[in-house]
Amino acid sequence: MTEKNVYQVADWKGQSGERWVTYQARLDAMMAVFGQAAIEAAGPAMGERVLDVGCGAGASSLDLAARVGAGGHVLGVDISEPLIGRARARAPQDTPAVFQVADASSTELPQGAFDILFSRFGVMFFDDPTAAFTHMRRALKPGARVAFVCWRGMAENDWVRLPMGAMKGILPPMTPPGPEAPGPFSFGDQGRVARILTVAGFTDVAIAPFDASIPFGKGETRDAALDDAVKMTLEVGPLARSLADQPDDIRARASAAVRAVFAGCPGERSVMIDGAAWIVTARNPAS
Ligand SMILES: C[S@@+](CC[C@H](N)C(=O)[O-])C[C@H]1O[C@@H](n2cnc3c(N)ncnc32)[C@H](O)[C@@H]1O
Repeated sequence: MTEKNVYQVADWKGQSGERWVTYQARLDAMMAVFGQAAIEAAGPAMGERVLDVGCGAGASSLDLAARVGAGGHVLGVDISEPLIGRARARAPQDTPAVFQVADASSTELPQGAFDILFSRFGVMFFDDPTAAFTHMRRALKPGARVAFVCWRGMAENDWVRLPMGAMKGILPPMTPPGPEAPGPFSFGDQGRVARILTVAGFTDVAIAPFDASIPFGKGETRDAALDDAVKMTLEVGPLARSLADQPDDIRARASAAVRAVFAGCPGERSVMIDGAAWIVTARNPAS
C-alpha cells in the first residue's frame, strides 16, 4: 500500500519540524494575528470540543483551550513528533488540550465528537484534500463548524515572493510547484477550496480574504532585526527548502540578496512583510 502524504510526513517529521521547534516563538508571533482571526471565525464557546488539525507546537490549540474552558476539550493532531513534543511541553497542566502525533487525513478519530474543526495553516499539505476533509468530517457532530486560515497564492504573499524573487541569478530558475501540489500555497485558489469542502460534504462555505503585516525576525535595532529575519528565512520555509543542498558561497549570496530586499520593508524591531490569507468557514450538515 502506498503511504499517503509521504512528502510532508518526511519533511515535517524531520528537519522542517525541528527547525519549527527552534523558531517556535518567532513563528507563533508571525502567525498570531491570522490564528486569532480564524479563532474568532470559529467562535468557540465554553464546553465545546475542538479538533485542531496540523496543530504544530500547539499555540492555537492552547488559545482554543482557554476559550472552551475546563469543561471543553481540544484535540491537537500533527504528524510531526518534534512539534507535538513542544506542544506537550508548553501546555499548562490543567489544560483541556491533548496532543496526538497522527496523520489527520487517515488516523482513527472519534466519530461525531467535535463541535469545531479548526486549523491555523495546517490543512494545505494533504495529497488528497477532498478525501482528508471527508475523513475529518466524520469526526464532527451534526451541525459542527469549520474554521481555518490558509495562505492565498504565492504571488500575493511578499514574505515568500520577495526572497524567492531575490534568487534570480543565484539559483537556477525553479519550476514552481503546481497550484494544487500539496504545500503552503495549495489552497490559494478559493474556488478550489470551496470545491474540496463541498465535495467533502460541507455546506455554508464562506471564504474571506484576510491581510496582515507579518513581523519577520526580532532585534534590538533595525540591523539586528534584519539579520534575524534573513537567518530565519534561510532556515525555515520555501527558500530554506530551495537552498538545502547549496554550497556555502551560494548561501552567502542568497543571504545578501534577501537582506537587500528585506531592507526595503518597514519595521524597527522586526521586518514587517505583507501576508495574504483566506479565512475559511463551513458547516457539517445538521443531519
Ligand atoms: C505551517 S505548519 C502550522 C503549524 C501550526 N498550526 C501553527 O500554526 O503553528 C503546518 C503543520 O501541519 C502539519 N501537517 C502537515 N500534514 C499533516 C497531516 N497530514 N496531518 C497532520 N498534520 C499535518 C505539519 O507537521 C505542521 O506542523
